[in-house]
Amino acid sequence: MRCCVPLVLSLLTVCVTDKCVDDVTHRPQRCMPELVNAAFNVPVVATNTCGSPPEEYCVQTGVTGVTKSCHICDARDPRQHHSAVYLTDYNTQADTTWWQSQTMLAGVQYPSSINLTLHLGKAFAITHVRLKFHSSRPESFAIYKRTREDGPWIPYQYYSGSCEKTYGKVNRGFIRAGEDEQQALCTDEFSDISPLTGGNVDFSTLEGRPSANNLSNSPELQDWVTVTDIRVTLNRLNTNGDKKFNSKVLKLYYYAISDIAVIGRCKCNGHASKCVKNEYSKLVCDCKHNTEGDDCNVCKPFYNDRPWRRATSDDANECLPCNCNGKSSECYFDPALYRATGHGGHCRNCADNTDGPNCERCSDNYYRARSGQRCLPCSCNPVGSLNTQCDITGRCGCKPGVMGHKCDRCQPGYHSLTKAGCSSQPTSPGARTQECDVNTGHCERYCIVT
Ligand SMILES: *[C@@H]1O[C@H](CO)[C@@H](O)[C@H](O)[C@H]1NC(C)=O
Ligand SMILES: *[C@@H]1O[C@H](CO)[C@@H](O)[C@H](O)[C@H]1NC(C)=O
Repeated sequence: MRCCVPLVLSLLTVCVTDKCVDDVTHRPQRCMPELVNAAFNVPVVATNTCGSPPEEYCVQTGVTGVTKSCHICDARDPRQHHSAVYLTDYNTQADTTWWQSQTMLAGVQYPSSINLTLHLGKAFAITHVRLKFHSSRPESFAIYKRTREDGPWIPYQYYSGSCEKTYGKVNRGFIRAGEDEQQALCTDEFSDISPLTGGNVDFSTLEGRPSANNLSNSPELQDWVTVTDIRVTLNRLNTNGDKKFNSKVLKLYYYAISDIAVIGRCKCNGHASKCVKNEYSKLVCDCKHNTEGDDCNVCKPFYNDRPWRRATSDDANECLPCNCNGKSSECYFDPALYRATGHGGHCRNCADNTDGPNCERCSDNYYRARSGQRCLPCSCNPVGSLNTQCDITGRCGCKPGVMGHKCDRCQPGYHSLTKAGCSSQPTSPGARTQECDVNTGHCERYCIVT
């Protein structure tokens, strides 16, 4: 059953907008998918179901169990089966359908237990788990959850008329400030044998937890309400104090549930207003604010200027693009750069001979004559230059006796450019060096005066 009823409690359920951008200001804002029954039509895996082979069960219609009517559970008969599909199908008051276990006659009773497991297919932030029993409610049962699909099963809530004995938990409905808020509680409020049918159990994930009204500021409770899988473990049947367990009496006791609902929002961390099926038919958030991932849990590539964050009521915390001055479309988040400058986007593979975290400067051995212009190679002469880097005008640093923008010529009075620079030594006795070729030292005219 779809559920759009506003439910009590905290920021999961305050009036949130489904628009990820404000209509008027065009500024990004926190947005969330609507509240739904995440269990609707989700297949449930039951470790025990009646009807294979067909078996008899009985119903007590008076509180004392005096009046009985008996029926057959037959897995192959469409009118007499009680398979797990009935747990999450559409419910009508007029035509109740339910899942049912085997009876105590088949050994269904503590310490053997039955698990009903739902794989939601996606992380949800949930407010409630609701069960509607068709049999009497159990004496002891527990709800477990997974926070991640590959994570462990975590106790979520215990219901028992014998909390200490069965689960080793005190019977208490709340957590005191300062205590671990991620612990399952145990209560006996739903463990009575009456009513014999139609009893509800409503587990509120946040009720009795001190930070429930400050969920935005409580990473512990955000984690606590995050659920990918739910498991109901039925541990002990209520048996009305029956002493004589003959086969007639044993057929009176079994578990039967007509509906399991898991009420919550598809978890998108405030960055999506709906969840959609992706190309592999997997439920994923329809991410905005430059985020991506199944839960909008990372920044899109090139939006790494600041760390990913959840949206809050006053700040969408959208991911911001890197500034690469148009020279790159790739960047990564650099924490040290972020600490130093407030901008963490570090560009990769800068084009056009540029470099630096923002592709803001020329690569080594390149220069830019005027801002906005392309970076040009220094082309410093490898023999005549002190190093390969030029200044911002493109001028290279020359070795002794060497001249020229690129240090490729000897100064007047010097000749023979080598790794040591240009030589001032005459090549021939009495040669007048100024008249010799600056590069070769070869003298053309007036060279030899002897
Ligand atoms: C039932 O669930 C409990 C709690 O997660 C687990 O320890 C147990 O192994 C499960 N039993 C079966 C048969 O799956
Ligand atoms: C919410 O939690 C924050 C951080 O723990 C705290 O500073 C703030 O006072 C809390 N607000 C309320 C209303 O409790």
